[in-house]
Amino acid sequence: MKKSKISKIINKKNRTPITCLTAYSKITAQLADKYCDIILVGDSLGMVLYGMKSTKEVKIETMILHCKTVKKYAKKSLVVFDMPYKTYKNKFIAYENAKKVIKATKCDAVKLEGGKEISNIINYLTEKGIPVMGHVGLLPQSSNNFRVKGRNFLQSKKIFDDALSISNSGVFAIVLECVIESLAKAISNNVHVPTIGIGASKYCDGQILVIDDILGMSDIKPKFVKQYSNLKKIMENSVKKYVTDVKSRKFPSDKNVYK
Ligand code: KIV
Repeated sequence: MKKSKISKIINKKNRTPITCLTAYSKITAQLADKYCDIILVGDSLGMVLYGMKSTKEVKIETMILHCKTVKKYAKKSLVVFDMPYKTYKNKFIAYENAKKVIKATKCDAVKLEGGKEISNIINYLTEKGIPVMGHVGLLPQSSNNFRVKGRNFLQSKKIFDDALSISNSGVFAIVLECVIESLAKAISNNVHVPTIGIGASKYCDGQILVIDDILGMSDIKPKFVKQYSNLKKIMENSVKKYVTDVKSRKFPSDKNVYK
């Protein structure tokens, strides 16, 4: 089952755009599952849900809790668990942690951030039968800024080499985060697995965004985000109206009362 879901994703390379969103809860899992190929339980939940300064603060137990819920309500999409900071320091630690999260959540795959330096870890996990999604470009777990990557030659070459290295180590797809268009195009044309872009242009084989960002529930709005609704405004109006109704004794009305 897991294998066939992954083969379907790989087969979409150069054919059909792969659709991905993050999800962290029951309702977001249900929504994403209805329309997306991949759901990522991203460690972005630290900043998005818990107001943390960075994803480095996210604990594996928190991720497990959210991933269990997502997996329970995502019946068809491939569910990927984002391994948090310091949970894959070497191949043995990575394997123990990946085994633990798969057992606890029944997720289909794990995602690791990094390039050449983690190729041996990716190799080890995939040899042990754990599907791995890679992530290069802007790496929130190790970067100290959120600037676009690949504008200078050395940085661009490093990201390109990192993508090649992890694709040869066995990842089934690679997230390319916040890299310039020409680099995303070069990587996508040269790796045999699908690239999934976030701020990485139309040349990727698929796209991913944080669900709260497309729904308009976040305070920050990077250029690469397209916001499809303004839930924050809708929620604010609802809270405001409720408080006004309570104060003016309009709520509860006869409709809301047991007689
Ligand atoms: O944690 C996350 O949501 C991610 C995506 C931004 C790709 O890694």
